[in-house]
Amino acid sequence: MRSLLFIPGDDAKKIAKGLASGADALILDLEDSVAASRKAEARRLVCETLKAQGASGPRLIVRVNALKSGEITADLDGVMPGGPASIMLPKCEGGADLQHLGALLAVREAENNLPDGQTRIIAIATETPLALFRLGSIPGASQRLEALTWGAEDLAGAIGAEANRDASGAYTDPFRYARSLALFAATASEVAPVDTVYTDFRNEAGLRAECLAARRDGFTAKMAIHPAQVAVINEVFTPDAKAIAHAQKIIDFFAANPDSGVVGIDGQMIDKPHLVQAERLLARAKAAGLA
Ligand code: COA
Ligand code: MG
Repeated sequence: MRSLLFIPGDDAKKIAKGLASGADALILDLEDSVAASRKAEARRLVCETLKAQGASGPRLIVRVNALKSGEITADLDGVMPGGPASIMLPKCEGGADLQHLGALLAVREAENNLPDGQTRIIAIATETPLALFRLGSIPGASQRLEALTWGAEDLAGAIGAEANRDASGAYTDPFRYARSLALFAATASEVAPVDTVYTDFRNEAGLRAECLAARRDGFTAKMAIHPAQVAVINEVFTPDAKAIAHAQKIIDFFAANPDSGVVGIDGQMIDKPHLVQAERLLARAKAAGLA
């Protein structure tokens, strides 16, 4: 997964557009982009979409309301008959929340004759101040976890920040901190680190710069809020031919020289951490159909 496009779950027109957008995954939203009066209609439409799509097309993820919202039971009852690939949990506050959601999913998998453990979880794990302190409890908490992402909008509200970016457009310290911790929590959990949304959706140069910075730091995907963002995200997070060839060279060297710990390749010192990185890059290239 390189691109994950958010779509308000009550908007049939946007769902149709999203299915044709080229996004690797769609996040059918039942939370913040759906008004309280529209939640029931969103659950119905999302379930209908899941059933109609089956396993074809982009991966279908449903963002439910938070565990404390009072809505999550109705959300899961509404969409689990459609067998979503994954549930995105907003305002996740640590490993216990993942286990709580896992239990809610297990019951509904049984009720709907779905394989036990099939439904994966993507956590938005930095939306409250408490969530940041609990990131350390996430690794190992749930086999269902497949990706972890961060959010800057709800966190800004929760801490009373006037803004989360400075005049130059860069995230301010509290949000850079959340971004870094999310990256560490995802990689410590051996799941995909997914960068947060870029809300200035008409600014392609800004999006590209943010994608490149995310890739540089280790993120392997980014969420989108508008179909126009998908192509840029897919392009940046698809390993290019040069990177693939370099990774292959590293893997080939260590395969041919199992007793070597370190080597110089293209003028750079290459050892074990680079091998791990090369293997990850090739896995992503394979997922994109390139290697
Ligand atoms: N998914 C699918 N289609 C979308 C879309 C999305 N996220 N965002 C816009 N579109 C469609 C529009 O319906 C429109 O279709 P049309 O040409 O057939 O009329 C087309 O793309 C162009 O949209 P545009 O006019 O540029 O944007 P907008 O003003 O209609 O919508 C937003 C702007 C922000 C309201 C919209 O992009 C959106 O709903 N984004 C997702 C919000 C969300 O889910 N947030 C929660 C997570 S942060
Ligand atoms: Mg939110």
